[in-house]
Amino acid sequence: MANNLLQGKTGVIFGALDEQSIAWKVAERCYEEGARLVLTNAPAALRFGDINELAKKLSAPVIPADATSSEDMENLFKGAVEHFGGGIDFVLHSIGMSLNVRKAREYADINYEWMHKTFDISAISFHRVMQTLMKQDAMNEWGSIAALTYIAAQRVFPDYSEMAESKALLESFARSFGYHFGTKKKVRVNTVSQSPTMTTAGSGVKGFTEFFDYAGKMSPLGNASAEACANYCVFLFSDLSRMVTMQNLFHDGGFSSMGMNPAVLGL
Ligand code: NAI
Repeated sequence: MANNLLQGKTGVIFGALDEQSIAWKVAERCYEEGARLVLTNAPAALRFGDINELAKKLSAPVIPADATSSEDMENLFKGAVEHFGGGIDFVLHSIGMSLNVRKAREYADINYEWMHKTFDISAISFHRVMQTLMKQDAMNEWGSIAALTYIAAQRVFPDYSEMAESKALLESFARSFGYHFGTKKKVRVNTVSQSPTMTTAGSGVKGFTEFFDYAGKMSPLGNASAEACANYCVFLFSDLSRMVTMQNLFHDGGFSSMGMNPAVLGL
């Protein structure tokens, strides 16, 4: 159901790899709501992902950019502003990758070079995105920036490994940059803490299927789907959420407020 909530708005969406990606669903919903989009992903992801298929469907150009490269970020936002013929109203950061998780390295035996790389890709990239946008003055007033995060930033989920610290850093960047972007340009910055979701990044975590079932049982409303997350992002990018900023917003069917749910014990 479309309500033209993003009619006339322009947005840049990071992280649509394939149809399972949360960013894919967000891009589809934003388009349905009337937004014009620019899609972006790492050059490598363009080779093995399906982003060009999405781009065709949404009449959106794809500008390849590695989120760890300042030069790529500069080209990306310059290209987006040129394409839109004006500023950007919203940006979704939907990027996550852990080298230690991918290479099955235990948390208490971590490789620090990989950890640095993980932080660079999954968290510092968010600062880089916002710093580039601010330096180029590419955001329109009352714009909205959001990044996807996970509750492992606050609670222990052992197999999430160094991604927990990545997400804590990401959420902190949202608060700190939210101050600067808010005072300078009335731009809001938030993180959305999403339920476990069956995607390439999600299912890379050990025991993900079992954990997905557990989280679904713990949450009174069940796990929030990628489609539901897309709806929430539309709200955050729309004028309905203008005064919400510097928040970590749980979108998790109630999981974050639960201690125990009898359903988990089969009672
Ligand atoms: P996904 O695998 O579809 O998306 C991750 C994206 O990050 C991919 O498109 C990948 O190409 C991109 N990426 C990796 N390195 C990059 C780089 N250097 N530059 C630019 N892009 C790069 O998986 P998903 O689940 O849609 O992930 C999106 C976001 O949602 C991530 O931040 C993830 O941590 C977060 N999230 C996912 C949950 C899940 O259970 N799937 C739960 C809560 C948050």
